[in-house]
Amino acid sequence: MTPSATQTLNDSELVSALDSTHDVVIREDATPVHAADRPDAAWWRHAVIYQIYPRSWADADGDGIGDLPGITSRLPHLRALGVDAIWLSPFYTSPQADAGYDVADYRDIDPIFGSLADADTMIARAHELGLKVIVDMVPNHSSDEHEWFKAALAAGPGSAERERYMFREGRGEHGELPPNNWESVFGGAAWTRVTEADGTPGQWYLHIFDTKQPDFNWEHPEVRAEFESILRFWLDRGVDGFRVDVAHGLIKEQGLPDTEEERTTMLGHAEHEHAEGEHVPAEEAPRIDHTKRSPMWDQDGVHEIYRAWRKILESYGTPDRILCAEAWVEPQERAVAYVRPDEMHQAFNFDFLTASWIAEDLRAVITSSLHAADSVGAPSTWVLSNHDVVRHASRLGYAPGTPRMNGISATDPQPDRALGLRRARAATALMLALPGGAYIYQGEELGLPDSTDMPAEFRQDPTFARTAGAETGRDGCRVPIPWSADGPSLGFGPSASTWLPQPDVYADYAVDRQEGVAGSTLELYRSLLAARRELSLGTGSLTWVLGYAADVVALTNGSSQHGRVLVVANLGAEPVALPEGAEVIVASGPLEAGLVPTDTTVWARWS
Ligand code: NOJ
Repeated sequence: MTPSATQTLNDSELVSALDSTHDVVIREDATPVHAADRPDAAWWRHAVIYQIYPRSWADADGDGIGDLPGITSRLPHLRALGVDAIWLSPFYTSPQADAGYDVADYRDIDPIFGSLADADTMIARAHELGLKVIVDMVPNHSSDEHEWFKAALAAGPGSAERERYMFREGRGEHGELPPNNWESVFGGAAWTRVTEADGTPGQWYLHIFDTKQPDFNWEHPEVRAEFESILRFWLDRGVDGFRVDVAHGLIKEQGLPDTEEERTTMLGHAEHEHAEGEHVPAEEAPRIDHTKRSPMWDQDGVHEIYRAWRKILESYGTPDRILCAEAWVEPQERAVAYVRPDEMHQAFNFDFLTASWIAEDLRAVITSSLHAADSVGAPSTWVLSNHDVVRHASRLGYAPGTPRMNGISATDPQPDRALGLRRARAATALMLALPGGAYIYQGEELGLPDSTDMPAEFRQDPTFARTAGAETGRDGCRVPIPWSADGPSLGFGPSASTWLPQPDVYADYAVDRQEGVAGSTLELYRSLLAARRELSLGTGSLTWVLGYAADVVALTNGSSQHGRVLVVANLGAEPVALPEGAEVIVASGPLEAGLVPTDTTVWARWS
């Protein structure tokens, strides 16, 4: 340490101290990336929202599938965790062909989850505990067992009933070829041919997902009116908002032209693939031609739908009821169109979720996310895990830059569990320090890894069957939660039954193994959430901190009430020092002789 070096620096550079290992000046950048929000900003601009996957959170009746009474009984866990709201994946009446994202009745609860009365009880209990409730809305498609689709099949070609879905004649001499070349996101064709009432092969219907998920025709006024009525149904029951499934898919390009994409993904293009461990800097990655939008995604016509929905939500007054878009849209400039002031409130930040554990990439995505959201006056959001991706505790157990996998099977290279957890804790500590909203996926507060060796006979994700096992699918992140290390189904329910098998290692991650245990992942999440709230980090500013090596992500989150919180995430091989006078608030792992070791994030007061 050479204190004299600081004396030559200009006061405006906010010099605090020197990094003792490298003798470099640690200082804030001159210009913040993002200015602080108003301290009294609306709740959703800084909320931490916990995703409950109802099938797998808590099972009250012992049938092996989670349910609403189970959720209600476990809500105090979330109060103690310190989140602001819950988002529940679908619990509506459904044949469960896509785990409830195939809805047969949007105004009722599937018997496996309970009843409408159970939903009312759950909403009321959550509100008593100070938790807002967001439910999933699935407007792109229904189940093929929805009354409208059954009526469409029965009514035949040319009927008004078929107009509510996307029926078309086939190509080829006898209509034997699908109407275009679109593929399902889950694999296989996006069209299925029906057998008409007279037993002959007939029209085709579009399903961007499974055969059992026919797409609605959103050009039809009855479809729009129906969904507006469904929104009111749930708003009247007291929900605080909706997470909107496949929000970028409702309108298709006029004429349904063939797509030029070889494979359909939610983004409309296959992700860039590169060899394991190879890092391709963002500027060298193959360019995506964003002018060539896929005909099934992100059509301009979707926006008027959400403008109409926003008006409905606003008619319910304050506190605000919200819409959050699941929109896999690139580039960010187009993605933030969904959160313009008269549309949705939030959109998931999948760029953050898909960023590699590489400091340069994280800095780039944080900066661009904040700039893009600021350009429309929306808060950014942050997310690392959900029910569609490998949990971050497993994802980060591979070499940075490893291509993202759709599930992990026993024959795949296995992630390093300890390394993954260490990085996952550091990643979460970075995420929860960022201004805006954040999403937590059930079980990540326990540091849960994916199930990575589930035998094929248990797999239920339609992707697995539709690709003949080529894609492992999403079951690995959907396994029932371990609440207690002993007892049947690790406390998930009263019986030993679980709809997906729990790996043996899950006992080690059980809530009762971690509660009150210093250093456990659960206690880390509680500390982070408590400090985030106390220091108003969700409404703070963000300024990059200069002076560390390139593999350290360092920033300050500042506010007029609380001053500056320094956040240092060390992704490099060497431990790094905190500036002199920095007082540690919380750390994702133990410091080593006062230094921040590899794959560790620290929050510190820095005045
Ligand atoms: C996105 C949901 O998150 C996913 O689970 C589902 O399979 C598809 N949309 C289709 O609804």
